Parts: sequence; C-alpha cells; structure tokens
Amino acid sequence: MSEMGPSGLTTGVREIDADTEGLCFLMSRLFDPLVECRRRYGECDHRQCTRIGAIAKYLDRSFRRQDDLMMSAGYPMADEHQAEHEALVEQLAAMQQACVCADRDRAVVDNAVTLWLLRHHRGFDRLLANWAVTRRVLSPAAE
Ligand SMILES: [Fe+2]
Repeated sequence: MSEMGPSGLTTGVREIDADTEGLCFLMSRLFDPLVECRRRYGECDHRQCTRIGAIAKYLDRSFRRQDDLMMSAGYPMADEHQAEHEALVEQLAAMQQACVCADRDRAVVDNAVTLWLLRHHRGFDRLLANWAVTRRVLSPAAE
C-alpha cells in the first residue's frame, strides 16, 4: 500500500474518506524502508508484532465509528459490512498469533491490508457512502 496511496479510494464522503486516508498514511509510515522496527535490535520474539498491532488499533477506532454510524442510521447492509471489518481484524490477529513479523514478512502484511482495502472500498464503503448521502445521513464533501 505504501506505493498505492489513497488516490482512487474516495467515496465523496469525508467521514468515510478520512479513515481510508488515515489507514493509507499509517501503512506508508509503517512500511517506509527508512522506518525501522523498534524491536529489531531488542529482544523481539516475533510475537505480537507492534506494526500489526498499530494497524489493528487504528482499524478498531475507524471501524467502530463506521459501525456506530451504520447501526444508528439503520443501514440495511450493516451486518455484512461489519462482518467485513471483523474479517480483517481477525486476519491481523491470526497473523500475530502465527508470529508473522511485519518487518520480516512485510509484503505479507502489506498485501493483506491492501487487498482487503481495495475489495472493501469497492464492495462496501462506496455503497455505504452512496446510501448515506441519498438518505441525507451524511453530506457529500464540498468540491
Ligand atoms: Fe467499511
């Protein structure tokens, strides 16, 4: 994702796009070749990778915001959308349990999040944004 950036992943709704932009920024920082894993020279046992943990922590906040919005607005596809959020959370947790290291196995982690984001944007966030604007739950971003 470090090369991908958020361009092309907009829905036209700031509340949704801001979270995507934040995730892309976080990923680019975490996987910048000049940013070293802070556990690289320590006693890293490749358990509970801090980079994966940082992604999961960010997603927890942004997913919670979207999940709350869907529930409070009565979004008809809320269950399916939330399940997609949960699928990525579970995938990241499984990686940590399997001792995947985002430093050593950076392509694995980067690809998993990037592929999920591309699918999720197209199949879920854009639908939510369109629905929310149509129902006047959220406003489109100013031009
Ligand atoms: Fe979403």
